[in-house]
Amino acid sequence: MSDLSRSQMEAIFEATKACRALNESSEKKSASLKGKTVINLFFENSTRTRTSFEIAGKRLSADVINISKGGSSVSKGETLLDTAKNLQAMNPDVIVLRHPSAGAAYHLTQILEAHVINAGDGAHEHPTQGLLDLMTVKDRKGQLEGLQVGIVGDIAHSRVARSNLIGFQKFGAEVTLIGPKSLVPESFKDLGAKLSYDFRKSIPQLDVIMMLRIQTERLKTSPFPSLREYARFFGLNRSLMEKAKPDVLILHPGPVNRGVELDPEVADGPYSVILDQVKNGVAVRMALLEALVRS
Ligand code: CP
Repeated sequence: MSDLSRSQMEAIFEATKACRALNESSEKKSASLKGKTVINLFFENSTRTRTSFEIAGKRLSADVINISKGGSSVSKGETLLDTAKNLQAMNPDVIVLRHPSAGAAYHLTQILEAHVINAGDGAHEHPTQGLLDLMTVKDRKGQLEGLQVGIVGDIAHSRVARSNLIGFQKFGAEVTLIGPKSLVPESFKDLGAKLSYDFRKSIPQLDVIMMLRIQTERLKTSPFPSLREYARFFGLNRSLMEKAKPDVLILHPGPVNRGVELDPEVADGPYSVILDQVKNGVAVRMALLEALVRS
């Protein structure tokens, strides 16, 4: 998201609207990527991102190939570099990469001819998630400028937090990062964020609340005494929602750990736009694939 200007993002949002209209039509198919090949190369688990990139490519008539760590020769010791060079030899147009290392997608852009889309690189960025989140909020609120956005949870290990922080700020929204001190590093102040360690105190000011899961796969030690205690102070439940604005939006990138960061009645309640995020994810990724292949 740090590479995209506000006007580039606005152009993606406009193209996303056209893709959304296609997704809502009876045929759900365009020929715009006919003859193009998209490889989804996922070194970490995924439900939403991988599936939506696959659906996006197929709705645009691209040939889509999915490769996961377990089903590839990476499990036999092949490096990312060798894997990517071998895939490049098959002449794909786009490689969509999810990888546990920050900078992995950027690294591939330096050595491959194919376009590379970052589908999440370690705790660094998840730009397509950031775009779909901005689009979801813009749809509901009309504009992003002036909004108070709270991102709550494991900020330290979250690529979603970083991409959204950058994206919302580019549109003039103010972002507060909320969580226990052990998961909200002071260094995020340098990126322009406000920090809060008291969710109960911050919630009445927020127009948008983005709840995040604890990234247990990236933790070496437990950052809090117990999940129960974490949920008590930083989980969003019906009682805490009583302090929120009446038109607040609740987002979550998924997967949701119900009963930890988000109670089921809030996740499935009237303020939740979680499934709008997923719906917009397909359209945003279609718009990006089209833009790259045309460029
Ligand atoms: N939001 C997101 O990245 O979900 P997945 O890990 O299921 O792709």
